[in-house]
Amino acid sequence: MTIPKLIIHGGAGSLEGNLSGKADLQKSLNEICKNTYKVLLKTNSYQAVLRGICYLENNQLFNAGTGSKLQSDGRIRMSAGIMDGNLNKFSGVINIQKVKNPILIADHLQKEKHTVIADNKATLLARNLGFPVYNPLVEKRWNEYIKNQIGNYGTVGVVALDSKGNISAGTSTGGIGGETPGRVSDSPTVAGNYANKYAGVSATGVGEQIINSGVATKIVTRVEDGLSLKRSVNKTINEAKKLNYKFGVIGISYTGEICVEKTTDTIFYAWHDGKDNEVFH
Ligand code: GLY
Repeated sequence: MTIPKLIIHGGAGSLEGNLSGKADLQKSLNEICKNTYKVLLKTNSYQAVLRGICYLENNQLFNAGTGSKLQSDGRIRMSAGIMDGNLNKFSGVINIQKVKNPILIADHLQKEKHTVIADNKATLLARNLGFPVYNPLVEKRWNEYIKNQIGNYGTVGVVALDSKGNISAGTSTGGIGGETPGRVSDSPTVAGNYANKYAGVSATGVGEQIINSGVATKIVTRVEDGLSLKRSVNKTINEAKKLNYKFGVIGISYTGEICVEKTTDTIFYAWHDGKDNEVFH
């Protein structure tokens, strides 16, 4: 039996230059990590990732689901991706609107022939599946929008390894805030979220730069090719530093290695290594 492991993140960056909310954010992450680990023990890596992302999307402190940032036209468009590493299957939604949990529609797409759906057709799919109209806007985000306080980052992610040794990864985002309407972030792509039998990675940071570097897939492929997770992550982070790219990653490998690294000032995260039932961060 493999010892189940879990790592979650609440975004990289600078909280729009204001770190006063850091303690609340970390407290929420620790709580969500504990609850998600319980799900992991009872179910599997995929279900734990799904539930963990829902917890994060439902907490308005994070820029995903409720609490998502607004694009430059004042609309919230959310994106999410989930990957079952055992099945080697990615699914996602891009720029979906007015749903509570974008990750649940991404989950539905795991069973479909076409597994990534965008824009109004993604929203229509949610309605057809019975997901009710939901407004994810919170006051804080509206105030940021009208004051033009545009952050650079913000995303949530979960990576889990279960007792059977299967790995899954999920990532969800409200985007960077103030972006061109319809901009596509890295989160619903394999650059921002990837898992196979060797490792799982979720990225957070500037989506364009994460896409340019193919971050999540690259790290996982390096593990598959024989590098440790730490070396794979460090290699990718060093490459990013040379380009002045700003992002962070979390990951778990099949050997149970847990890793978190960043080129940003901050990445908010919590993990559970299963050994002593403690959450570390
Ligand atoms: N990584 C989130 C975004 O760029 O939208």
